[in-house]
Amino acid sequence: MKKTAAVLILGLFCAAAFASDLAAVHQKAGVRLKAEPTEQQCLSCHGSYESLGEKTAALSPNPHRSHMGRVQCNACHAWKGRSRLMCQDCHNFPELEAALRRGR
Ligand code: HEC
Ligand code: HEC
Ligand code: HEC
Repeated sequence: MKKTAAVLILGLFCAAAFASDLAAVHQKAGVRLKAEPTEQQCLSCHGSYESLGEKTAALSPNPHRSHMGRVQCNACHAWKGRSRLMCQDCHNFPELEAALRRGR
């Protein structure tokens, strides 16, 4: 009995932990995808790398327009779980990292 309750609580916790990841954001927006989309699919819905650069032009530095060129989406945007800004491998851009976490 106790064990069942513990497993149930653990299950609920895991389900809640990533309730706001990119997969969940898309589900909530009514986008039905069977699996993690390919980069080509991301681009076909969200526009070209250039247009993404325009959408985030107010961010400094611009994550979609930098000396790194066209970085793979999932180097920053995690479909499942926590996103992580790849620029942090070499820099410290806390505001950009926070913006990424907010947007998921
Ligand atoms: C079938 C179309 C489709 C695909 C494929 C898709 N998206 Fe989306 N995405 C949407 C829609 C619709 C929304 C919710 C509306 C919006 O915010 O644009 C959204 C929301 C987002 C957001 C949140 C935007 C915000 O306003 O904060 C991000 C980030 C994002 N998608 C990134 C990605 C990435 C990265 C991929 C590929 C791994 C991807 N999307 C694949 C349609 C798609
Ligand atoms: C592999 C290491 C590495 C990664 C990853 C990396 N950078 Fe850099 N970046 C550098 C180096 C080296 C320089 C030049 C030296 C300097 O001025 O700091 C630089 C310089 C810069 C500069 C100009 C100098 C400054 O600090 O203002 C900006 C802006 C910048 N990078 C943004 C980014 C962004 C945005 C990303 C992620 C998309 C990124 N970098 C990822 C290594 C990296
Ligand atoms: C270097 C890290 C990085 C990479 C690589 C990256 N993004 Fe982003 N992206 C961000 C950050 C940071 C934001 C700002 C957070 C926000 O506004 O949601 C963002 C925002 C977005 C948004 C919301 C734009 C808006 O309307 O404000 C979309 C959609 C998006 N990214 C899609 C993509 C797609 C698709 C790819 C791959 C082609 C990609 N990103 C690659 C870091 C990245």
